[in-house]
Order: sequence, then structure tokens, then C-alpha cells
Amino acid sequence: MTQMTVNNQKVSLDTPADTPLLWAIREKLNLTGTKFGCGIAQCGACTVHLDGAPVRSCSVPVSAVSGRKITTIEGLMKTRTGKALEAAWNQVQTPQCGYCQSGQLMAAADLLNKAKKTLSREDILSAMSGHICRCGTYNQIAQAVALAQKTLKGGQA
Ligand code: FES
Ligand code: FES
Repeated sequence: MTQMTVNNQKVSLDTPADTPLLWAIREKLNLTGTKFGCGIAQCGACTVHLDGAPVRSCSVPVSAVSGRKITTIEGLMKTRTGKALEAAWNQVQTPQCGYCQSGQLMAAADLLNKAKKTLSREDILSAMSGHICRCGTYNQIAQAVALAQKTLKGGQA
């Protein structure tokens, strides 16, 4: 039995210790916003926050998250940062097929939460470079992250 906090709710999961966190999230908790892409920590589609830092949930066993805090895209969207990102994503019309986007948003939220200065396009592209989008939405993502940072600084979200 693994106990953890997911999106501010305590949960107990009866899964084998080596079950990838991604499958626990999707199949046991029915939080299907987190996606499976490569399964080998290469694409970023499965990104969640573990104790506030992004991890690739396809490659983290549930045994490694016992007693820890996880935020998925569903939880992120209830936060101020998540709402600012969602509004910016919509304004720029960022998603194409959408498959990679929850992972992109988790990475973008981490970037914004840690940013100590106004992010340039190069800062954003560099920080997000490990997140693959087969539809090529990188330009829109860079625009949307910059817009969300502006909104958060202006205190509007
Ligand atoms: S599915 Fe986890 S990094 Fe690709
Ligand atoms: S929007 Fe299609 S893979 Fe990124």
C-alpha cells in the first residue's frame, strides 16, 4: 500500500511497488489529463510535479513517492499559475492535437514559479526544450508562457 497526496487529497494505492506513477495516476485515480508518450522519460508528455518539482511519471515507481505530494494537470489548473497559463494558452491558440500539452503546461508552470526575471523567448525555448511536440507548437508555447508571466506579474489571473 502506497500513501501519497495527489492534488491536495490523501490517497492510498494498492499497486505493486514498481508500478509507474503514470499508471497509478491514470488507471487507479482516473486522472487522465497526464499522458503516456514514450514511456522512457524522453518526451515529457507524462510530466507531473513531485513535491513541487517536475518529474516524468512514466519513469517514477509508486514506491518512490510514498508520503510525498503530487500535482497533476487537474490540480495545476486550480492554481493561479495554472489559470494564467490556461488563459494565455487559449489566447495564443497554442494546442494542435493537444496530446503533449498537459506535460508542456506542467513544465511551463514550474518555469514560471521559479522565474526570478522576465523570461525571454530564448529562456523559454531553452527551459522547455525537453518537451517534445510533434505538432510543432513551440512558437505558440513561447508566446503563451511570456503572456502568462505578464498576467501573473500584473496580478490579473
Ligand atoms: S511518456 Fe514519460 S517522458 Fe514520455
Ligand atoms: S500539440 Fe500535438 S503533439 Fe503537441
